[in-house]
Amino acid sequence: MLIEGRAHRSIEEGADGRSARIIDQRRLPFELAFEDLRDHRQAVAAIRDMHLRGAPLIGAAAAYGAWLACLEYEALPPEPFAAAVEAALASLEAARPTAVNLRWAVRRQRAAIAKAGSPREKAEAALLEARAIASEDLAICAEIGRHGAGIIEALHRKKGRAINVLTHCNAGWLATVDRGTATACLYEANDRGIPLHVWVDETRPRNQGALTAWELSQNGVPNTVICDNSGGLLMRRGMVDAVIVGADRVARNGDVANKIGTYLKALAAHDNGVPFYVALPSPSFDPELADGDSIPIEERPQDEVLRVTGLAPSHGHGGGASRVEAELFAPGTRAANPGFDVTPARLVSGYITERGVLRAEALASALA
Ligand code: MRU
Repeated sequence: MLIEGRAHRSIEEGADGRSARIIDQRRLPFELAFEDLRDHRQAVAAIRDMHLRGAPLIGAAAAYGAWLACLEYEALPPEPFAAAVEAALASLEAARPTAVNLRWAVRRQRAAIAKAGSPREKAEAALLEARAIASEDLAICAEIGRHGAGIIEALHRKKGRAINVLTHCNAGWLATVDRGTATACLYEANDRGIPLHVWVDETRPRNQGALTAWELSQNGVPNTVICDNSGGLLMRRGMVDAVIVGADRVARNGDVANKIGTYLKALAAHDNGVPFYVALPSPSFDPELADGDSIPIEERPQDEVLRVTGLAPSHGHGGGASRVEAELFAPGTRAANPGFDVTPARLVSGYITERGVLRAEALASALA
């Protein structure tokens, strides 16, 4: 997707052939900074500490991390190589708990590495698999975009005016290799010339809405940021035609783990007769879990709730803006910070997958 008119992907192989280059999303939307991951530990830290984020992208990063681990241990004899790589795979898989894409990517890499011969061949196989995972992600997002744009187009035909879509968190190109899942639908609809406006939930405490608003604006999609608590009122007023969100893990029965706050949007949508769609790439579907109750929910540090980070306005002559952290609560205040919630399948109107828009009952046979 475009940043200041230039095409970027959120993860790419480094020019040296021994690293993966990511966009450090902690610095966005104020600064475009790249980070080169040179070993699997850096990949684990980048996933865990949210230098990059979003379920499909952390899957792709884990896949490149597995390749980096193979490169690190290439000189070892086969047995120590296998043990060291397996430990690296385990740490990549454990870097964050909720998105199933990590497990999915690590399993694919484990199988690809097992099939190859020498450590050098295993490293080559891991690189090919990481590339395959990244390019499959692109293809999946393109199909999701196509199917989702069909929904927006149908709404536009029915209503004969611009369509207002509400989205939560960032299920954008920054959360995938490119294009996004929920946003792929928006980009595709926009490319087809369907008049469109997006309500972007701020998504406290990490404010992923800032990423969504930024990437939509960079790519010409009209949008407005709203506080997380505004969606219900807008839906009651008829100002939202559809909600489209992403997913970190969808259980076999269609229950959806996604960024904290998604569930409340689904409840409000249900109460107001607004269709609620989940953009679901198949790697985010977990057929091993019967329902959403057993999806592990990441508990994040309380500082994310108690503090905000932002850009201080520049004062005086030529003074550049600087990043500041500010306390929001009285000293000693305690905060709880679950990173995700679970939306029951009964609140989901449809799952926009690469195989079409599906009902919950159809997911297991179409995606597993
Ligand atoms: O904590 P994050 O920013 O990694 O959470 C991301 C989300 O919840 C996204 O909505 C989800 O991963 C879907 S991304 C296509």
